[in-house]
Amino acid sequence: MRLSRYFLPVLKETPSEAQIVSHRYMLRAGMIKQQAAGIYSWLPLGFKVLRKIEDIVHEEQQRAGHIPLLMPTLQSADLWRESGRYDDYGEEMLRITDRHGRDMLYGPTNEEMVTDIFRSHVSSYKDLPLTLYHIQWKFRDEIRPRFGVMRGREFLMKDGYTFDLTKEDALHAYNRHLVSYLRAYERMGLQAIPMRADGGPIGGDYTHEFLVLAETGESEVFYDSDVTDLTFGDREIDYDDVAQCQGVLEEFTSRYARTDETHDEALFNEIPEERRRVARGIEVGQIFYFGTKYSDSMGATVQGPDGKPVPVEMGSHGIGVSRLLGAIIEASHDDKGIIWPEGVTPFHCGIVNLKQGDEAADGACEALYEQLTNAGLEPLYDDRKERAGGKFATMDLIGLPWRITVGPRGLKNGVVELTCRRTGESEELSPEAAVAKVVSIYAA
Ligand SMILES: Nc1ncnc2c1ncn2[C@@H]1O[C@H](COP(=O)(O)OP(=O)(O)O)[C@@H](O)[C@H]1O
Ligand SMILES: [Mg+2]
Repeated sequence: MRLSRYFLPVLKETPSEAQIVSHRYMLRAGMIKQQAAGIYSWLPLGFKVLRKIEDIVHEEQQRAGHIPLLMPTLQSADLWRESGRYDDYGEEMLRITDRHGRDMLYGPTNEEMVTDIFRSHVSSYKDLPLTLYHIQWKFRDEIRPRFGVMRGREFLMKDGYTFDLTKEDALHAYNRHLVSYLRAYERMGLQAIPMRADGGPIGGDYTHEFLVLAETGESEVFYDSDVTDLTFGDREIDYDDVAQCQGVLEEFTSRYARTDETHDEALFNEIPEERRRVARGIEVGQIFYFGTKYSDSMGATVQGPDGKPVPVEMGSHGIGVSRLLGAIIEASHDDKGIIWPEGVTPFHCGIVNLKQGDEAADGACEALYEQLTNAGLEPLYDDRKERAGGKFATMDLIGLPWRITVGPRGLKNGVVELTCRRTGESEELSPEAAVAKVVSIYAA
């Protein structure tokens, strides 16, 4: 992409309504535009990152054997009357009446609808296990939408639903989700710590929230500092291997890590004092085994091996896809702007031409652009007739991890400058060596 042809409405001023850094940078970098309280347009740069996050989520879900589908945003109230949640859900549910006077709603989640799909088409235990998921817009009429995409009213969520014959199998599905989430967050450059959460009225021990530590997080968290040393890394995983998945769960959840809802002061105090941490975190996902709550109320049964009907064991597992943009920026920025992790960056590398119109500089930039593109990367070439300072400020703000700077003076010595956004370190290299280095970074 050439910046002269792109749509990147960068703001010079800091918008006064934005209270936290991720919201400020998303507005300033021209990633989102608010259309109503908690409702945003995703401008091209923001949309690009959103898609990258979705891609990672899809890849990791499908690697775990989970099956994508797409359910609508609008739902019939009747389904929710069956589960009893139409009345229970309260003011957060956006209720709509169509022209025939039928009660509809904008889905805040999809347990009822997916259970309806299941009961319509699955009747035998032989079709289990089954995990269906989608990435779809949700609406929750939050009383206080705030912090930009962090707490929106309309927001994008991955929600997956597991169907199993037995509780044991359902817990394996739970573990598969835990593993696939750990992998997905790491690919986004994030550490998201599974913390024991509150099962709500259904209760049970089988729910964890994934928290990204950040001062601006809405949840108070308590943990043993040893949990922050854990990484999933690139270890091989067989998602059908029950013991292996259970091992990962135990590894990542055996140390103390809880949100304020489940915090237990006495247990916490058993940890050596120097390892006790009280901090804040952003909830970027949650996994939840809830058994037969919906299958009982909605009649989702399968015929078991003995021919008798059994209510199916279920769980639901969510990732806050749009919230993740905010969480990543909260975790990765400096005073000049965003610093995208390589896994989600909207463009792989910036090219800054210090003297647009100079034959040598223009030619070198075009060649770099072509070589990076041919290598399968997406460069963003700032080909505008602008001061160098303004070009650098834009690149720093939008946070591309790598930048190649090209000017007539360097070219006389056969070099361009390659700069790392995170460290600020630069090195002079031949254009070919700069391309080779960027390509090798993304290949890793
Ligand atoms: N209002 C919101 N705006 C943006 N993301 C949200 C919002 N509500 C929930 N999410 C994201 O969706 C994920 C799954 O939703 P869920 O666990 O049902 O939400 P909650 O715990 O807020 O009820 C959450 O972990 C969070 O990352
Ligand atoms: Mg939650």
